[in-house]
Amino acid sequence: MIAQTNEDFDGLRAVGRVVALTLRHMMSIVKPGMSTLELDQLGESFLNGLGARSAPRLMYQFPGATCICVNNETAHGIPGKRIIQLGDLINIDVSAEMNGYYGDTGASMMVGTPVEPFTSLLDTGRLALENALKTVRSGSYVNQIGKAIEDTAKRGGYSVIRNLGSHGIGTRLHDEPQFIAGYYDPNDRRILKKNTVITIEPFVSMGAVKARETGDGWTLVTKPHQFTVQFEHTLIVTDDGPLILTVAD
Ligand code: CO
Ligand code: CO
Repeated sequence: MIAQTNEDFDGLRAVGRVVALTLRHMMSIVKPGMSTLELDQLGESFLNGLGARSAPRLMYQFPGATCICVNNETAHGIPGKRIIQLGDLINIDVSAEMNGYYGDTGASMMVGTPVEPFTSLLDTGRLALENALKTVRSGSYVNQIGKAIEDTAKRGGYSVIRNLGSHGIGTRLHDEPQFIAGYYDPNDRRILKKNTVITIEPFVSMGAVKARETGDGWTLVTKPHQFTVQFEHTLIVTDDGPLILTVAD
């Protein structure tokens, strides 16, 4: 969507804050021995307590409130009885609706003290998001986002998942502009218009370029050792750069 009124800005900021707070809360309570379902239920209570509703449930009848991925799961992981172990790489993606507005955020982390090779992968994932954010302002090319992500990943010796991308958001979870690649696409001539609301979510991987379906209708995976991280913000495009909405304070 393109944010137009003060109500749009306030509503988007409010839900952005709620998903950011929920993500931070969930990351702080992750511990070995907990199932992904328990983590999801605690997250959903927190989210509901702040006045928001799970977006994937609402929009897609997703069988969970948040998407939780462990190790070689890349996206849309269904919370369930899987027990989180010390040393697991996990990703939590929180998206929600509040008063008709949507926010979407995500992050990867290691359970316990981060060690290599995951620390470098996590650092590169965060840097890819940071560098992609720097390309954003009114009138810039959409494809500079993917270029920054791909360049950052390559410099770190990593690949990007090509069939997962960033997206427009606003009064729906997925909105115009549709699919924003995590790699440089010279054929994408779209320009970012002022006040467009989008996510940026790089998927940086140890070699995988495609996440494949598993048969449960949701979970996307890579080969066992092709660990992938994702970091996501929702933002509004302004003349001076991105106005990041998914901030917790
Ligand atoms: Co997300
Ligand atoms: Co998203």
